[in-house]
Amino acid sequence: MILETERLIIRPITPDDKNEVFEYRSDRETNKYQGWIPATVSDVETFIGRVSKQINEPETWFQFVIIKKETKKIVGDLGIHFFGSENKQAEIGCTLNKDFQNKGYATESVKRVIDYLFKDLNKHRIITSIDPENINSIRLVERIGFRKEAHFVESLLINKKWVDDLMYALIEKDWEELNL
Ligand SMILES: CC(C)(COP(=O)(O)OP(=O)(O)OC[C@H]1O[C@@H](n2cnc3c(N)ncnc32)[C@H](O)[C@@H]1OP(=O)(O)O)[C@@H](O)C(=O)NCCC(=O)NCCS
Repeated sequence: MILETERLIIRPITPDDKNEVFEYRSDRETNKYQGWIPATVSDVETFIGRVSKQINEPETWFQFVIIKKETKKIVGDLGIHFFGSENKQAEIGCTLNKDFQNKGYATESVKRVIDYLFKDLNKHRIITSIDPENINSIRLVERIGFRKEAHFVESLLINKKWVDDLMYALIEKDWEELNL
């Protein structure tokens, strides 16, 4: 499954992407709100080996990389967690190399993936979980039209610390209205 936007190609991650992905995923400062920070390229290789080979498989994560058309360079990645087959819900998460942040690439790719999830995979609801201190992520999902549904207190153990968790969601009906 390959998706395209004006400036980007969004395609499944492959083992050959491991070095480029390690370059930005290992950046501890940029990724301080993330649960997974690889220590070695081999950690990324293991991660790529574990994600689903097929999109829309129940109870799996599928991983896209986001590529800038102009340079063919990976600018970030986007993961989708597919829940049970009858569930029609998915969770998404996006990470950009800090050199490619603040250019609208995350907004452009997340919108394209959401459109695909609702229109092609017939999903009903898309959620995303965000640390309340992760301002850039909050701005991203609010810009796209996600609704803040919950603020859980110290509900996640990330990097050995209990942190709060915001739950944002978008339902298919919202997406239709936003794009009328
Ligand atoms: C979350 C994350 C992907 C958001 O990235 P981002 O660069 O802020 O988002 P975008 O790529 O959509 O860029 C949007 C910004 O670019 C600006 N911009 C500049 N040129 C632009 C253009 N040509 N088109 C659109 N927007 C443009 C927008 O105005 C916006 O800035 P603003 O928020 O000040 O208004 C990024 O902060 C990140 O990777 N963080 C670390 C990983 C993480 O914590 N992920 C979340 C957990 S899943």
